[in-house]
Amino acid sequence: MKKINKLRSAEWFGRDDKLGFIHRSWLRNQGHPDHMFRNRPVIGICNTWSDLTPCNAHFREFANIVKRGVYEAGGFPLEFPVMSLGETIMKPTTMLYRNLVSMDVEESIRSNPLDGVVLLTGCDKTTPSALMGAASVGLPTIVVPGGPMLNGKYRGTDIGSGTATWQLSEGIKAGTVSKEDLMEAETCMSRSAGHCMTMGTASSLACMLETLGITLPGAAAIPAVDARKKVMAHLSGNRIVEMVKEDLRITQLLTRNSFENVIKVNSAIGGSTNVMIHLLAIAGRVGVDLVLEDFDNLGSDIPLLVNLTPAGKYLMEDFYYAGGLPVVLDEMRKELHMDVITVNGKTLGENSKEAPCYDREVIASKEKPLKHKAGIAVLKGNLCENGAVIKPSAATDSLMKHRGRAVVFETIEDYHARIDDPDLDIDETCVMVLKNVGPVGYPGMPEVGNMELPEKLVKKGVKDMVRISDGRMSGTAYGTVVLHVSPESSVGGTLALVKDGDMIELDVKNRSLNMDVSAEEIEKRRLAWTAPEPRAKRGFVNLYINHVEQAELGCDFDFLKGSSGDEVLRDCH
Ligand code: FES
Repeated sequence: MKKINKLRSAEWFGRDDKLGFIHRSWLRNQGHPDHMFRNRPVIGICNTWSDLTPCNAHFREFANIVKRGVYEAGGFPLEFPVMSLGETIMKPTTMLYRNLVSMDVEESIRSNPLDGVVLLTGCDKTTPSALMGAASVGLPTIVVPGGPMLNGKYRGTDIGSGTATWQLSEGIKAGTVSKEDLMEAETCMSRSAGHCMTMGTASSLACMLETLGITLPGAAAIPAVDARKKVMAHLSGNRIVEMVKEDLRITQLLTRNSFENVIKVNSAIGGSTNVMIHLLAIAGRVGVDLVLEDFDNLGSDIPLLVNLTPAGKYLMEDFYYAGGLPVVLDEMRKELHMDVITVNGKTLGENSKEAPCYDREVIASKEKPLKHKAGIAVLKGNLCENGAVIKPSAATDSLMKHRGRAVVFETIEDYHARIDDPDLDIDETCVMVLKNVGPVGYPGMPEVGNMELPEKLVKKGVKDMVRISDGRMSGTAYGTVVLHVSPESSVGGTLALVKDGDMIELDVKNRSLNMDVSAEEIEKRRLAWTAPEPRAKRGFVNLYINHVEQAELGCDFDFLKGSSGDEVLRDCH
């Protein structure tokens, strides 16, 4: 095992000159004794805490627990805040700010006297943004995922974040749920600290972290309020100090093989489509050649093993009690690269070996999976030349091959204005098409792809329809929803040219999505098309519009691809 000779932080604290004085002296105002500055690994604790990010609101306490572990192992912990992204509160969408936060994290790490980093992440965008930023620096890094909330409890049944919201909202439309029911459910769903406890994006990303080996084994599923989560935070504080001494860097963990593992595990857990976008962006930061098609080629034949909503029945608390992710990893031993190294210095295979399963209702065996094929399908066709995706495990089998008349909404505002109009010319065989919700067009590619169905059809008992957009969908959502259409409509993708009444053909088995319109007619429409006005002429949003890449590339900024390493640009003088 490689050992480091000199700490990076010594460039700040190990000097006897004026600059060394300046770097140490002001920090001493917090009462740090002299030995803290002498040859100790300095550990940054990157905190995405905010009262405005409910899923991460418990992180102040966690940061203190991590500090305990760092001190105990002989390190010097220094906590720093970064911009936090509260999924349920920020407008217009947190995805607009993921890359901004990644820059905040990257530059905060590089510019400071840090030898290693602990990332505290939880809510949907806080995980990928922190990981992207840390990956572009490349120091030893460990993540403490904040953990899911306890199961929601409503009138004697469990209800899951997000998924229950969509179901209740549909019930309101169908007339089976009253406003009072909805208000009561609101108070019952989010009843502890933690992130969404369905297998939504946050839980899928926590599983991604554990699969990448960037958390201690078993960390993903532990509920936020379980004392064992605090133990995990303490041990992570211990371990990061050792990682610095061993020079075990994040870049050694983020490899093509570990990304392939994530793709397969995300299928087995019925994970979120958002994992695709974030994983592509993370891969871009470390120079791993990952493409959209990898998700289909590697993941679509993987069986569904985890029975959690929205693809199944249970919630994260149940997943933890059943044994958590190590059981899934052990079940998939033959499919995964078990020799990838993890933060504790052991391989993924060693960490998950013979992990016991305590409930086969929640985690199925490979011999008796919940579904034989659970992965995400990548579609191509004249409607999505660069790709689109669908999650069959959350869709309706009978709609996997469908031809229907397009009902087009030019914007999300247009959709809201007309969807419940009794005169809207739509029936259950139609295909709902939503434009201008892509990365550039919205901007920020919001989670609106799972458009609610028209009230008049819900009242008739219609449960699902084919929906297509260049937007995303919450990991807690479900339905026959085609997402991430690329190129998006706002940059002139063919989606922009669809008109009411065009016939659309979806064929998931053959991975195709087309509109039945002649090439000549499409070309004619293309010549007549004009790009919408950009939504912002200045500031960050303008930078975003001009530099964000399309969904199949991970929606990162073109200038953020790759890494700048841990070298500071210049010394301060
Ligand atoms: Fe934060 Fe779902 S809203 S994880």
